[in-house]
Amino acid sequence: MRPVEAAAFGIAGAAVSAPPGLAEVAGHLGLPLAADGAIRLVLDPALAAEAYRLEITATAVTLTGGSAQGVFWGVQTLRQLGPVLPGGVIEDRPRYAYRSAMLDLARHFFTAAEIKAHVDLLVQFKINHLHLHLTDDQGWRLEIPGWPRLTEVSGGEGTGVDGAGPGFLTLSEYADVVAYAAARFVTVVPEIDMPGHVNAVQVAYPELTADGAPVSPRTDAEVGYSSLVAAKEETYAFVEAVLKTVADLTPGPYLHIGGDECLSTPPEDYRAFLARVLPIPGALGKRVIGWHEIAAADLPADAIVQYWRPEAADDAVSRAAADGNQVIVSPADRTYLDMKYDSGSPLGLDWAGHVSVRRSYDWDPAERLPGVGEETILGVEAPLWSETLRSVDDVRYLTFPRLPAVAEVAWTPQAGRDWESFRARLAAFGPVWTAAGINYHRSPEIDWH
Ligand code: ACM
Repeated sequence: MRPVEAAAFGIAGAAVSAPPGLAEVAGHLGLPLAADGAIRLVLDPALAAEAYRLEITATAVTLTGGSAQGVFWGVQTLRQLGPVLPGGVIEDRPRYAYRSAMLDLARHFFTAAEIKAHVDLLVQFKINHLHLHLTDDQGWRLEIPGWPRLTEVSGGEGTGVDGAGPGFLTLSEYADVVAYAAARFVTVVPEIDMPGHVNAVQVAYPELTADGAPVSPRTDAEVGYSSLVAAKEETYAFVEAVLKTVADLTPGPYLHIGGDECLSTPPEDYRAFLARVLPIPGALGKRVIGWHEIAAADLPADAIVQYWRPEAADDAVSRAAADGNQVIVSPADRTYLDMKYDSGSPLGLDWAGHVSVRRSYDWDPAERLPGVGEETILGVEAPLWSETLRSVDDVRYLTFPRLPAVAEVAWTPQAGRDWESFRARLAAFGPVWTAAGINYHRSPEIDWH
């Protein structure tokens, strides 16, 4: 950013001029369109697709993006700077291509309208992927044709942790969420968690257990007790049908197959299962992502490993990175939005410790794991697990203000980041969130305006 000029531009009364291809993006400024608008939106393919350049003088604003997506990120910056824009030039582009937030719909369901409202908040911080954890022991949240009991039984009343989070997305609701996100340059990454975290599957279809015996629904928050059966052909018929449905519904390039915490799957069964399942997304035209336990298996060359544990090192992940597999960095002690902020947090868990705003901001993804340097990192994610959540207000309390912190970790190169600068800028969001009715944690680490 060049030194700020004395001139400033007042947005009030300004109009926007945009070529036809940017009219929809221009709409996100909430200003009238006019051929001679003082705010000009421009495409320059010489810039990187997500890069943008903002030139602000006393009489005009020029926002140039490498693509409509780059212009859209510039629009988010303009909205944050307003209503009086300081004169000067901003040249901005992301550190990582994959900047993600995860929402767990299985432990507590959130409706399509609630998910779309969440997307609107995420894009303000230039998040460009929404990972939906659609299935777990306590519930199954996506309609799958041919397998009606998944949602009739395991998406119905009494599902979710404490039985308090029922519901599921129909095919058309899921497609609506995907399209809404895509219109905001957010790629939905669907996760079907397996071979563990499948009690809801086995309640609905007991033939997918080892002995075919009925299984009781579970609404507690234990993990690691359920598993698909590697030695049964029925398992793969189920997995292929589900992944085909999800792939057909999802225009984005990724399918997440989970793979975490398979504590009741013998290691040789786990590897045998993954040997069959890891190639399926590729055959469906998608790139497979799994939680980092999948690094115990032989990985397709383009498989992406998502590191989630708080430990300082993981040999299998280091080996996968050395083999050329890309890594998404989401260590629980830095990026898990469901960890308590401190001992006084009314919501959240603490198995990875407390995650203050500063902890979520003050770290370098490229220094986090031995053997996983800048060039192997696809991006950074902030997961939000929903065991303790019962409402959208709960989601927002844990998301804000830590999501903006992780989003800046993912967007801004390390040399451009500074905790004191961040906390000063974050403080300005307090009144904005309050005015918008957005519940957030008034962390004592921030001098809220
Ligand atoms: C995880 O937190 N079990 C991925």
